[in-house]
Amino acid sequence: MTVKTIAVLGSGIMGRGIAYASAIGGFRTLLQDTDAGALEKAVGEISAALEKGVALGKVDGATAASAHKRLTTTRDLQHAAAEADLVIEAVPESMALKVEVFTALDRLAPKHALLASNTSSLSITEMAAVTVRAPQVLGMHFFNPVPRMKLLEVVRGLETSDQAIAVACEVGVAMGKECVVVRESPGFVTSRINAMIGNEAFYMLQEGVASARDIDKALKLGLNHPMGPFELVDLVGLDTRLSILKHLHRTLGEKYRPCPLIEQYVAAGRLGRKSGRGVYEYEAS
Ligand code: CAA
Repeated sequence: MTVKTIAVLGSGIMGRGIAYASAIGGFRTLLQDTDAGALEKAVGEISAALEKGVALGKVDGATAASAHKRLTTTRDLQHAAAEADLVIEAVPESMALKVEVFTALDRLAPKHALLASNTSSLSITEMAAVTVRAPQVLGMHFFNPVPRMKLLEVVRGLETSDQAIAVACEVGVAMGKECVVVRESPGFVTSRINAMIGNEAFYMLQEGVASARDIDKALKLGLNHPMGPFELVDLVGLDTRLSILKHLHRTLGEKYRPCPLIEQYVAAGRLGRKSGRGVYEYEAS
């Protein structure tokens, strides 16, 4: 099958990044969200990312202009799904919500369409089970910030077909990504390792081993990580990280128990850059 139109559901940090990659990759892109304000903000950020790509010489002017033209927004799920060859959902990380979305998509999307989740840890098989097209359901896990991150984890659920995996990899390559294919398992490859490092960093902070700045500095300069674990969790969102840790703890056991300090930060509303305060404080943008 050939993918021409991609619907991206959810215009948060990940949804808008995926819409950027999709439009740049040459796909007609429908970005859907029920919140008009969020869609407006997303379009502004996608435009800024395109302009930055051009300024950096990563995207040529004509590609950016046609990417703009290929991108439309809608608040109507039915409209987005009905025209899609591939739907990528990037709604919040709650299985109840994902199940609701996949149930609706199975009804609304054309029979040939692939349904993908950008989940960073939840079960693709469980989402596929509420559809009558489990072979066409898979994970496409992108990384934040999407325009700059080269990886796409393509996740195979129990019944995902080889054809669906092949099509998702082709789409990923057209979006400029390198793909790895992962068998479904909690947290896949990246979130499982990343959650472990981030959780350990919170335990070290809680124990007073070093300051947040020095833990970040140590990992950047001593281990060549591009960002320290606290800078990264502030980018990803502490609530997102906590929900991944809770899922890993439930499914993989004790070593993933969330550090009490991250639970406290989330309870205090310190969610990271998006709330102006996480481990660090940020100026309002
Ligand atoms: N369009 C196209 N390309 C762009 C671009 C744009 N708008 N903006 C930047 N780029 C390119 C740059 O030209 C550069 O390309 P080269 O590598 O070829 O030179 C590349 O993207 C990197 O850009 P920068 O030089 O601006 O980046 P940097 O060196 O300052 O690094 C960073 C920034 C990429 C964010 C880096 O700090 C990093 O990798 N941090 C870690 C991020 C990470 O781990 N993310 C994963 C989080 S987990 C997640 O997302 C999943 C989850 O499940 C929660």
